[in-house]
Amino acid sequence: MPNQENIQRKWWKEKIVYQLYPRSYKDTNGDGIGDLKGVIEKLDYIKSLGVDVVWLNPIFESPNDDVGYDISDYKAIMKDFGSMEDFDLMLKGLHERGIKLIMDLVANHTSDEHPWFQESRKSRDNLYRNYYHWWDAEKGKPPYRWSIFDKENNAWKYDDKTNSYYFHIFSEKQPDLNWENPEVRHAIYSIMKFWLDKGIDGFRLDVIACISKDTSFPEMPENMHVSKWFPYYTQGPFLHDYLKEMNREVFSKYDCMNVGEMSFVTTEDALLFVDEERNELQTFYHFDHTGVGVSKENFMYADDTHWDLVEWKKIFNNWDKVFAAKGWGTIYLGNHDMSRMVSRFGNDREAFREISAKMLQTFILSMRATPYIYNGDEIGMVNTNHTKIENYQDVYTINYYNQLKQKGEDYEGFLQSHSNISRDNSRTPMQWNDKENAGFTNASPWLEVNKNYKTLNVAAQENDPDSVLNYFRELVQLRKNNLTLVYGAYELVDESNEQIFAYTRTLDHEQFLVVLNFSDTPALLRTTIPINKGNILISNYAEPSHNNIYDPYAAVIYKTSI
Ligand code: NOJ
Repeated sequence: MPNQENIQRKWWKEKIVYQLYPRSYKDTNGDGIGDLKGVIEKLDYIKSLGVDVVWLNPIFESPNDDVGYDISDYKAIMKDFGSMEDFDLMLKGLHERGIKLIMDLVANHTSDEHPWFQESRKSRDNLYRNYYHWWDAEKGKPPYRWSIFDKENNAWKYDDKTNSYYFHIFSEKQPDLNWENPEVRHAIYSIMKFWLDKGIDGFRLDVIACISKDTSFPEMPENMHVSKWFPYYTQGPFLHDYLKEMNREVFSKYDCMNVGEMSFVTTEDALLFVDEERNELQTFYHFDHTGVGVSKENFMYADDTHWDLVEWKKIFNNWDKVFAAKGWGTIYLGNHDMSRMVSRFGNDREAFREISAKMLQTFILSMRATPYIYNGDEIGMVNTNHTKIENYQDVYTINYYNQLKQKGEDYEGFLQSHSNISRDNSRTPMQWNDKENAGFTNASPWLEVNKNYKTLNVAAQENDPDSVLNYFRELVQLRKNNLTLVYGAYELVDESNEQIFAYTRTLDHEQFLVVLNFSDTPALLRTTIPINKGNILISNYAEPSHNNIYDPYAAVIYKTSI
């Protein structure tokens, strides 16, 4: 049982991270795209949230095939976002306000416009040839690999210049780097040091599990389900060696924070990555709880028939156990790759939007892990659910749609379904006020603003003490003032309850009880813990329960005694 003596305190465990999607945050130069000056303009707002770390989605030079996840120059700022001076000012402004900055490093692949790739494709004996994975065409067609963004779902792209195929898990404009080449690894470490020397505080490591793969590229069994293909793409034989090397060469030399994006990681091998003694990563985030609302057969389609709270609770429970004594977790319900958390895990109907947004925030900020909140979720922004392809910008959606269209399949039906889970739902511009384009830009925005901005916006919520925004601020302070909410042991209460997610958090003799009704009907909590209304620390209702029956989407944190 954790107590003040045996917990291993670390600053990065105690921080609250705010993920900021700069393209949609605030445009100051009238091109319809958010920029770093826009972030600077909003620094006091960010400070007012009480968050302590900003994770900024990629801002490096990029042709934007995958909105910045295709980098063509790791040491330059994308023109859309501004200049290095803007970056320095932004970093200074954040630090002056006591806020740290972590950047989004895409190290598995570059843009095909990166000079390394431009060189690599020139000739088979080019000095940079071995920076990427090539398959000479004389050997015949390379064994099929599925690509997540490719127009034909094929990860091998033929390049006639050298009569070879190159490998790309993502779009054809995102060739995978060959991490088996030590020059590649050291080039990436030197980029990381460049930014850390500039004063940033760490990295979010994009698809980091993919950097090591089986480069003999064996044949894959035909028609293999997506859930089975990971050994062919990710967590290859040298992943731990590379992470240890990255730690030795970079992380160990700085007081910095890191979080890896870790696809297909299991609870069994989790500690291999984050056990402090292994000197690899500090934290990562997994995807186990994000399947809600997504079809199990094909994750491009929505399916909300398999929401099962009891199963969902088990996922969090199992993950909490993994980190009970070693390592540390992360907690999130939204990001730029998911639809909006309120639409997916809460309820975006007008009657429940605000109350369920507050409930989900309570969850994120009361779990035993570093919390991540995605911009816009502090005010409860919701999906746009567009059903016309003209409204989309995401290469992922557009390529899949075109593929179906070419094959004569039901592309309109696809979009109807996909609109519930598309990534563009969460990438829409931040809603600042009820003025034109929600105060995001005075030009035409790169992605359409959600039509509900007239009523759902920061300005309206600033003046309302009961708003989602002000509730979020209160929660943040509650977590920051109570170490028990960070380190306290987590234990489920009323485990089989199909509507309520409840748990205690205990440190020494202090205990909190968190009760969250995840449903749109009243729900009874079965517990022997004495509940006293006088001990409510925060709740999204004035009176959230009557005789242990909790209102729809009620959220309460009690202080209980042990
Ligand atoms: C994961 C990122 O979060 C996502 O937005 C991106 O498309 C892929 N990696 C490819 O870099």
